Amino acid sequence: MVKRAACLTAAFLLAMAVHAQSGYSQPAADEYAGVETCAGCHEELVAGWKTTRHAKAFATLQKKHQETLGHCLKCHVTGFEKEGGFMDGELTPHLAGVQCEVCHGAAAAHAANPDSKKGLVARPGEDTCRECHTKGQDPKFDFHNKKLLVHGAAKKGGK
Ligand code: HEC
Ligand code: HEC
Ligand code: HEC
Ligand code: HEC
Repeated sequence: MVKRAACLTAAFLLAMAVHAQSGYSQPAADEYAGVETCAGCHEELVAGWKTTRHAKAFATLQKKHQETLGHCLKCHVTGFEKEGGFMDGELTPHLAGVQCEVCHGAAAAHAANPDSKKGLVARPGEDTCRECHTKGQDPKFDFHNKKLLVHGAAKKGGK
């Protein structure tokens, strides 16, 4: 038994060393974290976002049994066809829907270290929306009014 414990300890230390070497504790600026990670510090914004249609965008496809179609997913999930982004509902459920990181950029580095703003887009502009709210898809899209709705009822400047 003692031997087994020692062996496990060694395996654990080795795993830690590998982790440290691969820089696991410092995610790259282009890694996605997922909205539940943001909730730890941006509780109100996340609660507000959950009431928006963006939060339900993947469920919308599921209802139509079209949640495996790449040409639909690209506008209804987070980071589709991007490194570390959404793959499918089973492998990456944490990136379903149009989440914070669609507009603010992949933010795992910031979530691990809030002082890091590398890669973070603080004030996404109309171009970001237009990747999905295209002229064809959404002819009446009005950035100045619609941008007020993206965090639901969360107050501007709130957490
Ligand atoms: C460990 C806490 C923490 C986590 C987790 C976290 N943030 Fe933040 N975030 C902060 C703090 C603190 C600020 C600075 C607030 C301020 O300056 O008023 C901030 C600011 C921001 C800003 C505004 C940046 C600016 O320059 O004004 C954005 C956008 C943001 N966070 C997005 C996210 C997203 C998206 C996630 C999840 C992937 C996330 N944050 C996770 C703590 C966190
Ligand atoms: C990755 C694609 C994507 C991006 C980028 C995006 N949206 Fe959306 N948006 C959607 C989808 C998909 C829906 C519909 C979701 C549903 O009903 O299932 C939607 C719905 C909405 C709605 C609710 C319907 C409406 O027209 O009132 C608002 C408001 C909205 N988006 C605002 C914005 C704004 C503002 C931006 C940019 C800051 C933005 N969106 C960026 C995909 C996107
Ligand atoms: C170019 C981006 C884009 C693509 C591609 C896309 N969508 Fe959407 N979808 C949106 C946006 C933006 C909205 C919200 C604005 C609107 O209603 O047009 C939306 C809304 C929807 C809605 C809600 C409509 C309503 O009024 O309730 C459904 C359903 C939907 N999409 C299904 C699909 C399906 C299925 C596909 C693939 C065949 C698809 N979408 C491809 C961007 C896209
Ligand atoms: C559809 C795009 C979109 C989504 C999704 C989105 N945001 Fe934003 N966010 C914006 C825009 C646009 C602004 C700038 C608003 C302005 O200029 O008035 C903003 C501003 C912010 C700010 C700056 C502080 C403030 O409120 O003024 C923070 C922090 C922030 N968002 C965090 C988040 C978090 C966390 C999530 C996910 C729960 C999220 N956002 C989801 C588009 C988005």
